[in-house]
This record gives sequence, C-alpha cells and structure tokens, in this order.
Amino acid sequence: MGFAELWAALLPIGRDAGTGGYRRYSWTDADADCRAWFTAAAAERGLRLDCDRDGNLWAWWDFPPDGPGGQPADAIVTGSHLDSVPDGGAYDGPLGIVSAFAAIDLLRDRGFVPRRPVAVAAFTEEEGARFGLACLGSRLLTGALDPAAALALRDNAGIRLPDAMAAAGLDPAAIGPDDAALGGVGAFVELHIEQGSALAGLGAAVGLAGGIWPHGRWRFDFTGRADHAGTTRLADRRDPMLPYAVTVLGARQAAAGHGALATIGKVVAEPGAANAISSAVRAWLDARAPDEAALDRVVGEVRARAQAAAAAHDVEVSVRPESFTAPVSFDAGLRDRLAAALAATGIEAPVLPTGAGHDAGVLAGRLPTAMLFVRNPSGVSHAPAEHAEPADCLAGVAALAAVLADLAGR
Ligand code: GLV
Ligand code: MN
Ligand code: MN
Repeated sequence: MGFAELWAALLPIGRDAGTGGYRRYSWTDADADCRAWFTAAAAERGLRLDCDRDGNLWAWWDFPPDGPGGQPADAIVTGSHLDSVPDGGAYDGPLGIVSAFAAIDLLRDRGFVPRRPVAVAAFTEEEGARFGLACLGSRLLTGALDPAAALALRDNAGIRLPDAMAAAGLDPAAIGPDDAALGGVGAFVELHIEQGSALAGLGAAVGLAGGIWPHGRWRFDFTGRADHAGTTRLADRRDPMLPYAVTVLGARQAAAGHGALATIGKVVAEPGAANAISSAVRAWLDARAPDEAALDRVVGEVRARAQAAAAAHDVEVSVRPESFTAPVSFDAGLRDRLAAALAATGIEAPVLPTGAGHDAGVLAGRLPTAMLFVRNPSGVSHAPAEHAEPADCLAGVAALAAVLADLAGR
C-alpha cells in the first residue's frame, strides 16, 4: 500500500459535504476516525503503536527492546498532525503523516534496514481549532505549556479539555512533559504542504524550511450593553461592535506598517440577534512578524486602537494572549545534512522562511528539527483550495525517504 491508497482512505474523514473543507477537531468523532486510520496504517506495516500521555500518536519501526530505560534511543521521528482548522484543506498536516508511512514503504521496498529506530508521529490539536491553543500536543510533550493551563481550556461550547479527553478514553490527569520519551528522539523532520506559492515560482517540487516567524493569538473581549436596534438612540448606545470594527482596520494598518501580518478571522457577537445591539463581541487577533520587536509593535498598536475606540463608545475591552511562539530557526546542521542528502538524489530544495506555526517549531526548542515543504500551486492553505499535485506528493515521499535513509542509515 503506497501513498495513493493511504491518502484515499483518509480523504473522506471529517470532510464537510457542503463546503468541501475539513472539520477534524481534537477529540471528536472525526478525530477518532483519523486516529483509527493511523492505527490501521501502523498495524498494516507491523509498526508498534504508542499513545503518549498527551494523546500524541507514535508508530515505531524497529523499536529496540534494549534501549536505555526501555525507550527507543536516538530515534529519527517524522510526522505532522491530523487535525484541521474549520473548513481546512486536505493537506495541512495529513500530507506529512501519509508521506511518512509511504516513505517507510518505499524504504522497505528497497530493502533498506534502519540502524536507528524510526517513528511516525501525529501530534494532537496542532491548529488549536477546538481549544484555542495551537500545537497543544507538542507544547505539553516538551513542557512548553503548563498542564494546569491546558486543563483549564474550554471549547466554544464550553466543554472542558479534560472532559473531552476523558470522553475519548484518555486520562487527562496524566498530561504533561515526557522527558523520557523525548530523550530517545535524536531528530524530528516534518514534511508539510507549502503554505504559499514560492516553490511554484522557483520551479521546485520540494523545499526546506529556514525558520518560522514569531506569532501568536490574542483575544479581545468588548463588552457593551444589549438594547433594541430600532428604538435606542445612537447617542445612548454602548455598542461593542463599533470598537471591534475599528480594531479590525487597526490590525490591517499595523501589519502593513511593520511588514507583518495580522488577521481577525474569528469573531463572536453575543447574543447574535439581527435586531439587537450586541452585549459583547469577542474577537481573536492572529499576528505574525519577521521578528519579535515588530510583532510587539503590531500587537501594541492594535491594542491601543481597541482601547481608544472602546473608550470613545463607552465600551469595556480586555485583551489577553492565548498562545505565543517565539521565532524558530531550524537546526542549520540538520538542514545542511538534509540538503546534501536530497542533492545526492538529484533534488535541489530551496530554503524558505514561513509565517505558519508547526509542531516542528515547538520541538525545535528541545531537539534538532527540520522541515520539508511540498509545492502548493494554489498557494492557498487553511482552506479547501489547498492543493498539491500527485506527482509532487510522490516527490515529497521520495525526498522524505532519502532524508530518513540518510539519518537512520548510519
Ligand atoms: C498553523 O497552521 C498556524 O500557523 O496557525
Ligand atoms: Mn495549519
Ligand atoms: Mn500544519
């Protein structure tokens, strides 16, 4: 079974028939189906399945029982995530996992025997689409997130993370860092769909990641006073929608002024009546910049605009960070080694920066990590139009196989 069969088996899971987008949220039925797909793919290959204390899945090839402390020693791990943003594309996350299994198939077909353990990993809640905190599984695993903070998270329906985990059969009391598991990992390589169209412009099917811009999410809560839309005089209103609107435009201006990106892509108006002034508006700012100083300036300017507009309209505003990722520079030595392994098989992979977050970026704080990108001719991501041509997906598998052969072969 190769790439096409693995891909076809995963493709229908969590796909909305109306939009064509994916709704694979952590600890839902769609997520359970994705996990069952992963479990079956591991079983078909005779890989040993493990679920760590944070719900991340691992499929192990050639686990040595005599590794230190019972853990695999110096393993090469590859993989990505199976969860999606609301109405996301098919490739963001799953491409890395399908390619990982397919690369193992390719290596075995060639008779390759690894000298270090190899694992495929699927990290939980990378997008933060359900509980708001991106890279939840890898942050918990590496100790970058306090388990108590994770246990306090709730989804949009008010369901607590520990309840969602328990309903899915996990023990939420066990979540947290797992140094023993990470101590056995020598390097992590994540293959990912490109989230832009630089590779198309360069005529390359595969690229390597240079680094990740610092980025984060900030929640803005505007609280006003609900009232009748048809009878309340303009002068008497405390409408939270007004400072919210100023904040959206302020985000755009601040980003443009600092060579950054800022987006308000999620907003909730309460109670949400067409003929009433809202009592509250909640909005999420996603901001990303080439460096931390620029990011601080962008967020500071947006916050100042929100506060000034709130004061002008007699509305309360509170701002709090929900997640933050510092700038990531992937391990230069590992990247050079990947580039050399790819060049040896005739693949010239350009090095690209990215504004997107990844589990590889979180793991980079603890391990040598690297990323491979696969060309996305649409340039679109986090939407159904996200795409990679089948030939480029196979080029990605070949590239990942070359990298795994190099890293695990000596
Ligand atoms: C994840 O894809 C992110 O960058 O938000
Ligand atoms: Mn994503
Ligand atoms: Mn992703």
